[in-house]
Amino acid sequence: MDARNPAKVVKDAVESAAEKVTDALTPDVPGKPGSAPPTVAEPTTPQDPLPPKPEQGSPQTRTPTGARTGAPASANGQQGAYLTTAQGARLRDTDHSLKAGPRGPTLLQDHHLREKITHFDHERIPERVVHARGAGAHGVFTAYGAAEAVTRAGFLRKGRTTEVFVRFSTVLGSRGSADTVRDTRGFATKFYTDEGTFDLVGNNMPVFFIQDAIKFPDIIHAGKPHPDREIPQAQSAHDTFWDFVSLHTEAQHHTMWNMSDRGIPRSYRTMEGFGVHTFRLVNEAGETVLAKFHWKPKLGVHSLVWEEAQMLAGIDPDFHRRDLYDAIEAGAFPEWELGLQVFPDTPEETFAGIDLLDPTKIVPEELAPVQLVGSLTLNRTPTNFFAETEQVAFHVGHLPPGIDVTNDPLLQGRLFSYVDTQLTRLGGPNFAQIPINRPHAAVNDMLRDGFHQHAVHAGVAPYRPNSLDGGNPFPAGDAENAFLDVPVRVAEAPKIRANPVSFDDHFSQARLFWLSMSPVEREHIIRAYTFELGKCFHQEIKERQLQCLATIDPVLCARVATGLGLPTPEPTVPLADVTPSAVLSQVGRQWPADGRTVGIVVDPEVDLDTVRDVRRAVFAADMVPLLIAPHGGLIGDLPAQRSFATGRSVELDALLVATAPAPAPDALPARDARAGAAPATRPVDPRVLLMVEECWRHAKAVGAWGSGVAVLEQVGVAGTPGVVTGDSGEEVFTGVHRLMADHRVWERFPATVG
Ligand code: HEM
Repeated sequence: MDARNPAKVVKDAVESAAEKVTDALTPDVPGKPGSAPPTVAEPTTPQDPLPPKPEQGSPQTRTPTGARTGAPASANGQQGAYLTTAQGARLRDTDHSLKAGPRGPTLLQDHHLREKITHFDHERIPERVVHARGAGAHGVFTAYGAAEAVTRAGFLRKGRTTEVFVRFSTVLGSRGSADTVRDTRGFATKFYTDEGTFDLVGNNMPVFFIQDAIKFPDIIHAGKPHPDREIPQAQSAHDTFWDFVSLHTEAQHHTMWNMSDRGIPRSYRTMEGFGVHTFRLVNEAGETVLAKFHWKPKLGVHSLVWEEAQMLAGIDPDFHRRDLYDAIEAGAFPEWELGLQVFPDTPEETFAGIDLLDPTKIVPEELAPVQLVGSLTLNRTPTNFFAETEQVAFHVGHLPPGIDVTNDPLLQGRLFSYVDTQLTRLGGPNFAQIPINRPHAAVNDMLRDGFHQHAVHAGVAPYRPNSLDGGNPFPAGDAENAFLDVPVRVAEAPKIRANPVSFDDHFSQARLFWLSMSPVEREHIIRAYTFELGKCFHQEIKERQLQCLATIDPVLCARVATGLGLPTPEPTVPLADVTPSAVLSQVGRQWPADGRTVGIVVDPEVDLDTVRDVRRAVFAADMVPLLIAPHGGLIGDLPAQRSFATGRSVELDALLVATAPAPAPDALPARDARAGAAPATRPVDPRVLLMVEECWRHAKAVGAWGSGVAVLEQVGVAGTPGVVTGDSGEEVFTGVHRLMADHRVWERFPATVG
């Protein structure tokens, strides 16, 4: 037996293994954790901090009051090669506390121990009360100039580029919840304009559950987990949610969006965004229009299917943030166009009979086309999640000159709420000075002191008027581009707690949405309502929601009732006579498949030259090929990114089968239950058969060549729609790529509702 220290034996073995590591093992697909490959042995030569990864960005180095510092981004990070205290004193040991002898006790004198533990004890801050789970990225906005006639906002002038930070989120789940739950998604954009920061704090759905901000705590309390057991996490399939939305029927339109495929996006990159409220824009001449903001994704609007969403919640709870970061790392920069629906600013604040102050209503694009005014490209991932994505603070009141709010009662309450919550979440009033929140415009605000004050304000007179600081700061006028609170006339009215009568229509647009869906999307909606209501405990709540559905559409209501095993109620009011809006459907058009993931099943017997060519073709098509093999490591000279044990169909947008792999040594039901998915007598690894079967079931394109065709035959899918076979791997991939433009092979989902 080796008499040496066992830890040392392991260390030596690891060091000798290090010699054998080859470059070939370093994957060329996105996802590497650091900017340089690690050595197997622990590094011992002091060196400065490694630079961030090439795709990472961080906030511009601005002072707390908005001035450029000229310092590199690395100035925000840790400095020097040596471990120090928070005060910069170099340390020789951080692994052992200072003790009275090797057996203790530990001494109170150990300031390094206390500093290290104390700081750690306070690492967590409160998560956002809503939208706690999110992912952010840096980017740039370029204006087309098309908005110049309606707003004086400088960042919308033709050719102007503005740095942005975008945070996507779910609403209900806690910070550690899964990405793919059925929920509304946040789409919040911070434009660092030189006229002050503009935050467009929107969602991926154009309407909201409530018409008045005073009900926000109610809808959120209803949607969050039940307060006694704190379940279910991050979902609306429970009694309190359906109790509220069935009683509070103005929520029915937004609920319909949530039950549609919009509630389970394929990717943040394939989501629309909406400012929801109507805003008021002011141009150079002081003229105003009303406007709604839209984000249109260049890749189209696409969703998961429900089973994928559920499986992903377990298999890859980080699916959406990984997808966002991988796409940026791979250079497939997500892009959107910003659009405006513009309406005349009339005293009624309506358009085509639709109340523009009601945030539960859309204005169909057929009535008011979306005019594209600029493009957004996300091109850098954050360097530090906490510093940037967690500490970013959006606020609907962050407005530049040229954009003003309306009296939408939901928007009015939001104007109060964001700063109020951030005071607690970010620990004091100075969160605008956190690097990610620092404006890119000169700040001279007379706000002083408070926790975590980073500015060193000069002068003695932070008040106005003053003479001691020479009168500074001075108010600005039109010539100096001051923000204008548009002097809108307020109609004479009693002070009351009430809505306009126009807010009483709760069902017509839910019906409009339903009628705008393709048959397969309607099937998905029926499924979603049946699933969610089926998860409710109380029959009374299901019956009440069915009554709401009866008022939206009798077919929808009847199909959901059948699924719930309940009678179909009759509508209590006549169904609304509405015109469908074709643009609301996600099906029927073709889109680029950039940034999608293509799995390629290989084994040691595969024709490597063909696999190499196909991989190259997948990369050339701006997609990511994932080799899935019987084991990790190398297949020939190609790195396997997944093994049959670690891979799963739901990570993929399409599957190519290049071989018929025999069951791998770990295809044992006792070790991997999925290996029991097919009789052991079959000559192909059962996990590969399952992968093909799942991809087919989720209506994904599947292709095979060579002996791979036999795998599709075993599963029984060869020759069916969306399955491409042939002799040439590259031709098969070309066929699969073409199919991916439709997002799914929709023929595999025959619908029963027309
Ligand atoms: C049209 C309706 C609404 C939309 C589109 C919306 C959107 C959003 C988004 C995208 C976020 C996440 C921001 C981030 O990424 O950090 C957020 C957070 C939040 N929202 Fe809303 N929201 C709406 C209504 C409301 C209302 C009515 C209230 C309260 C009256 C409210 C209160 C909050 C709060 C407190 C946060 C957390 C902010 C933070 O901790 O930084 N929201 N909202």
